[in-house]
Amino acid sequence: MAKLTGKVALITGGTTGIGYATAELFKKEGAQVAITGQNPERVKAAQERLGKEVLAIQSDTSKIQDIETLATKVKERFGRVDILFANAGIGKFVPIEQVTPEHFDELFDTNVRGLFFTIQKILPLMGKNGSIILNASVAGSKGMESTSVYSATKAAVRSLGRTLAAELAPKGIRVNTVSPGPIETPIFGKLGIEKSQIDAMAKEMESMVALKRIGQPEEVATTLLFFASNDSSYVVGAELYVDGGLAAL
Ligand SMILES: NC(=O)c1ccc[n+]([C@@H]2O[C@H](COP(=O)([O-])OP(=O)(O)OC[C@H]3O[C@@H](n4cnc5c(N)ncnc54)[C@H](OP(=O)(O)O)[C@@H]3O)[C@@H](O)[C@H]2O)c1
Repeated sequence: MAKLTGKVALITGGTTGIGYATAELFKKEGAQVAITGQNPERVKAAQERLGKEVLAIQSDTSKIQDIETLATKVKERFGRVDILFANAGIGKFVPIEQVTPEHFDELFDTNVRGLFFTIQKILPLMGKNGSIILNASVAGSKGMESTSVYSATKAAVRSLGRTLAAELAPKGIRVNTVSPGPIETPIFGKLGIEKSQIDAMAKEMESMVALKRIGQPEEVATTLLFFASNDSSYVVGAELYVDGGLAAL
């Protein structure tokens, strides 16, 4: 039986990668789904692939006005939100000497500020039995070189996963965190670096992972289904690594 029948799910950053795979799975499991992205072409492409019963909205999570408009549009179409997957994020990796204030602000504005205010603005649409899932990263709890600002954003997300879980549990809203390891998504292609460099990074990551392979977005989506559905009805403030063993081994 479908696990999300009758539920409304909002997935930020659902145009590609982990968010897109999750949108497909949640739809298959009976949810009404809304997704966002900031790039208009990718929003359009995702809308076409997911079909018209999914609501695809262009919304830049680093802009508060966009988040407010997003809340209004989702309310108009679905009336409420049962599941919020706060997933929209970017990754940029440089040594400390090359970190500029712009690099710092871009990562924090998208990965932390955007995620935080999305939760704040969507909260009024959520009620008892709501589920909020944050997308952090194994990078938030490891020390990997050239990832200082990205990893700091993800450490902040992990922290929010705990504080907001405590704050929202009395309202009947469960907050949990997923922390993926290296997953094959377009995120690395959006770095503006050569394919050969991306391949070299992937090889290095592969060797660090106990399972010796890069994960697929669908392997993260199944964990999200667990957190979104009643299967995790007594799970609050948890962080689940979907990382082939990278964090623990
Ligand atoms: N892939 C990995 O190895 C990995 C590992 C750990 C954690 N993660 C996390 O997983 C999340 C999803 O990443 P992914 O790997 O699936 O990469 P992805 O395919 O690039 O997906 C990122 C999504 O976020 C959206 N997004 C980016 N900036 C945005 C903004 N300012 N406003 C609204 N949407 C925005 C993208 O939309 P546009 O295309 O329109 O920009 C896209 O839909 C991120 O938070 C990432 O940090 C990824």
